[in-house]
Amino acid sequence: MSSSSYSMIFLAFALCVSFCVNNVNASPKFDELFHPYWAPDHFTFDGDAVNMKLDNYSGAGFSSKSKYMFGKVNIQIKLVQGDSAGTVTAFYMSSDGPKHHEFDFEFLGNTTGEPYIVQTNVYVNGVGNREQRMNLWFDPTKDFHTYSLLWNQRQVVFLVDETPIRVHTNLEHKGIPYPKDQPMGVYSSIWNADDWATQGGRVKTDWTHAPFVATYRAFEIDGCECAVTTADADNAKRCANSGGWWDQPVLSELNLHQNHQLIWVRSNHMIYDYCSDTARFPSVPVECQHHRH
Ligand SMILES: *[C@@H]1O[C@H](CO)[C@@H](O)[C@H](O)[C@H]1NC(C)=O
Ligand SMILES: *[C@@H]1O[C@H](CO)[C@@H](O)[C@H](O)[C@H]1NC(C)=O
Repeated sequence: MSSSSYSMIFLAFALCVSFCVNNVNASPKFDELFHPYWAPDHFTFDGDAVNMKLDNYSGAGFSSKSKYMFGKVNIQIKLVQGDSAGTVTAFYMSSDGPKHHEFDFEFLGNTTGEPYIVQTNVYVNGVGNREQRMNLWFDPTKDFHTYSLLWNQRQVVFLVDETPIRVHTNLEHKGIPYPKDQPMGVYSSIWNADDWATQGGRVKTDWTHAPFVATYRAFEIDGCECAVTTADADNAKRCANSGGWWDQPVLSELNLHQNHQLIWVRSNHMIYDYCSDTARFPSVPVECQHHRH
């Protein structure tokens, strides 16, 4: 072949790469971003969907191959169908070590036909105890829904199908620590938690209904990637100055529409908020005194 036909082929290929990739708008494959870290034999792959199962031998979990500081993670999940009582499926970001930070979605299973509860939590410097619980405005076992974490230097936002359900605001100016110094991995797992998960632990896992399967697809991580070989402080400095889209001023707080959505979620779907639990916290946790939500 002449060199010009080579360049034609190359041109066609290059066009296809930019054209096809931009237009198909496909999410990265599971393997590009994640790997099973617990019980690889409890995974099955079905096209772009990943099934992770809990049975009487083991739960299962996957984690991101990289760590990140700031950005947004989206995962579509279809939760365990039918009887999921006693099971917990979690989707979270976490750093490592005793002073770790963590942003959690925990989906608490239920008996057939009874609603799942979504529990969220935020750990800062190794301390959690910031649980909120809500039910959802749809059945999360019937279809895939998108669960997201947006993390920037001003706020952490938990979103369900792009509706904010929780905001953890940076209140460092009030002397309250905010998680922005440690890279975090992205994780999901399913396990047996029948000592507490369903109706306060009264309903136990019915193993005759195993395996309990959660299904995932459409994995997206758009954040400042952190090499594990780089010190946290250097990653923090680089990612704080990376000029990522997540640090645009417009994302430093919810917009008006999102504020209305959050108010709607809180008034219609919230079951529990640690900020209002005076039996547990006789003096209101310090960030609750300042959070607008
Ligand atoms: C797990 O469940 C299977 C099927 O119900 C049963 O045959 C097996 O003995 C159980 N194994 C354990 C470790 O309980
Ligand atoms: C399970 O269903 C019961 C009855 O509707 C409800 O009280 C409970 O909050 C639901 N969720 C969990 C996780 O227990």
